[in-house]
Amino acid sequence: MSEFVDLGVSVFDADFTLNPYAYLQDLYDRKDVLGFHSDGMNFLFRFDQGRAVIFNKHCVRAMGNNEQLARLEADYAQRYPNRAWHFHHSYTHGEPDLKFKAAIGRFVADVASQASFAEVEPVFARLSAGGRLDNYIDEISRLPMRVFLETCKLPYSEDELEELHGAGCAFLKSLENFYDEALIADCDAGLARIRRYMEDQFGAIHPESPLNPLIEAGRSIGMSDEQLIANIGGMFLTSISNTVGISSAFILRSLLRDPGSLATLREQPDLVRPHLAGNEHVIMELLRRDNHVKALTRQFEEPMELDGFTIGKGEVVCLYFPGINMDPVRWRDPLALDFSRRFTGENNIIFGGSFYTCIGRRLTMAFLGNIVEGFTRHLPEGARVVEEELEVDGSWMAERIITRLPLELG
Ligand code: HEM
Repeated sequence: MSEFVDLGVSVFDADFTLNPYAYLQDLYDRKDVLGFHSDGMNFLFRFDQGRAVIFNKHCVRAMGNNEQLARLEADYAQRYPNRAWHFHHSYTHGEPDLKFKAAIGRFVADVASQASFAEVEPVFARLSAGGRLDNYIDEISRLPMRVFLETCKLPYSEDELEELHGAGCAFLKSLENFYDEALIADCDAGLARIRRYMEDQFGAIHPESPLNPLIEAGRSIGMSDEQLIANIGGMFLTSISNTVGISSAFILRSLLRDPGSLATLREQPDLVRPHLAGNEHVIMELLRRDNHVKALTRQFEEPMELDGFTIGKGEVVCLYFPGINMDPVRWRDPLALDFSRRFTGENNIIFGGSFYTCIGRRLTMAFLGNIVEGFTRHLPEGARVVEEELEVDGSWMAERIITRLPLELG
């Protein structure tokens, strides 16, 4: 469709990934342009469009919704049974149970309020120590999983932590990459590992684990242990690794590129303290400026009118989240960090919206609140990202892009 103009660069290009606004800024004003086209995909990148699509119940995740994908999925289901098992039992598969969804919300709130972030202190000590840190990602990436397992009182060895982290990464990496069978095979192996871990733990969950009320809620609506294992492992152990830790790297980069904002947070540390009202706006602003979520697909089950264009039934379009979050129509001076911005259910889709809203939001706030507060105390004056050595994973689109973030810490 011609209303999707050629972006002129691959969406997998490192510079586009790290500086997308430079490529999009002239497109925002063009009324003749609905979106952009790159690597064989069409992308919507404006806020109003993204929100309209997210809240349109006829726009569903593009998975097995066209004939080619449906055939592929049927074939994968035969050959990758752990992946099929996971999707079959997922509470979002078909009609989600709202009671279970509410119990998930309570569970996440419990984990967020009970979590201890003592394990983050060595990362802060490393930042304070100065010198050169070759890769911040190595320091941070396993931490969210560690905090989650500790809080849920799930025992683990260091090897298991490593394996579960790898399994989560493999799952997310395969999410929007249906045609790359190597990723699907890795995802299947990862889900088998998560399933084995959860099956081993399930009979002996610590009586004070916040998992117990979630399990009880599931059982009360008739969920089997198998379903509970699939959902707990499939929702949390898959998503905890590759989300908040990586987003903290994007946030660190944004703060180090804007010393004035870091100074503001140093002067007013309460702004980011997780337990104080109002801190969500600051974390939301940091996530708006940049985070790990890049592009998610939707298939249109019905035609949809958008800004005078029609997207036809059956078409698949990606929502390009960095473009949506930095739409200058929605946010004046979108590249600037501005802690006076206020976020409501209507003015952003940073955590999605409607049917697929993120379940991890409160966990994210607790984790990032702690991390950012630690940044303000421990980052030496003059610290900088070694931008020219920064590395991104270019092979997949949906999430997690920075793989190496070198720091000069003075
Ligand atoms: C920086 C932090 C995070 C951001 C910006 C974020 C963003 C999002 C977005 C935009 C969606 C909607 C996807 C769609 O519409 O297709 C989503 C869904 C989801 N997120 Fe997050 N997320 C974050 C952290 C987390 C964490 C920490 C977890 C779990 C521990 C998590 C688990 C999930 C799950 C399971 C879904 C799918 C929900 C469903 O299908 O109903 N997220 N997230």
